[in-house]
Amino acid sequence: MARVIAVTNQKGGVGKTTTAVNLAACLAAAEKRTVLVDIDAQGNATSGLGISRQGPGPYLYEVLIGKAKAAEALCPSEVPGLDMLPSNPALLGAEIELVREEGRERKLKEAIEELLGEYSYVLLDCPPSLGLLTLNALTAAQSILIPLQCEYYALEGLTHLLRTLRLVRRSFNPGLMIEGVVFTMYDSRLTLSRQVVEDVRRNFPGRVFETLIPRNIRLSEAPSFGKPIILYDIRSAGAEAYLKLAKEVIDGTAGTRPRA
Ligand SMILES: Nc1ncnc2c1ncn2[C@@H]1O[C@H](COP(=O)(O)OP(=O)(O)OP(=O)(O)O)[C@@H](O)[C@H]1O
Ligand SMILES: [Mg+2]
Repeated sequence: MARVIAVTNQKGGVGKTTTAVNLAACLAAAEKRTVLVDIDAQGNATSGLGISRQGPGPYLYEVLIGKAKAAEALCPSEVPGLDMLPSNPALLGAEIELVREEGRERKLKEAIEELLGEYSYVLLDCPPSLGLLTLNALTAAQSILIPLQCEYYALEGLTHLLRTLRLVRRSFNPGLMIEGVVFTMYDSRLTLSRQVVEDVRRNFPGRVFETLIPRNIRLSEAPSFGKPIILYDIRSAGAEAYLKLAKEVIDGTAGTRPRA
């Protein structure tokens, strides 16, 4: 059965999509069949894997409103073992259309159920907000993986996020665990970066991945070629870091699963 992990942080631009796309590719490269679900109407994960957002679909939107099955919307990617459930701009409408539906926060969970037997991992790339789509992701997930940027307010942001997690647990998904926090755009030359990592590690022991994702220009270039980093530049520091993160996820070394 697949492990369903939501890559989430309410803050924008912290590296959610970069992490979701590249972690998914690296899990597949490690021979773990993986599906990446693009929960964001911006569609960065979809285009980052070189999948068109202009085709006839079906896309995640049709799946959520019950017009298509998840399996029908799947697209293969260039990475063997990695499939994508893509989104297109219509997904924006789903937030509004689903509002009045019974069980509106469980639509994604129900839709992806049929995929769980086929894959080892299902990664959900969340938008930077706590709307109905993110709530669907947090309800469908077994755990959350939190990309965090090494900046002054990181600890505050994380505390805020964990408060949200408690609310979600109480109302929608009591078993939701923390897969781990991963630092993104890390710059070892900056004292601030090092301090933030130290602070968060001290406050949340055992919940932070060892792997630090460095700021790496190749990671920011790869999406414009529609490729994950391991196909764009396998020798880059970014590729090395995401391969290491994938290994940690597979081994469960963030050590957070039982305690959450
Ligand atoms: N490790 C990195 N090194 C260099 N650039 C990065 C790195 N991680 C992310 N970026 C760049 O930072 C920007 C934001 O990253 P990304 O889109 O992954 O964030 P996000 O959290 O998904 O954003 P949003 O909240 O809008 O969905 C992008 O331009 C991306 O290419
Ligand atoms: Mg994103």
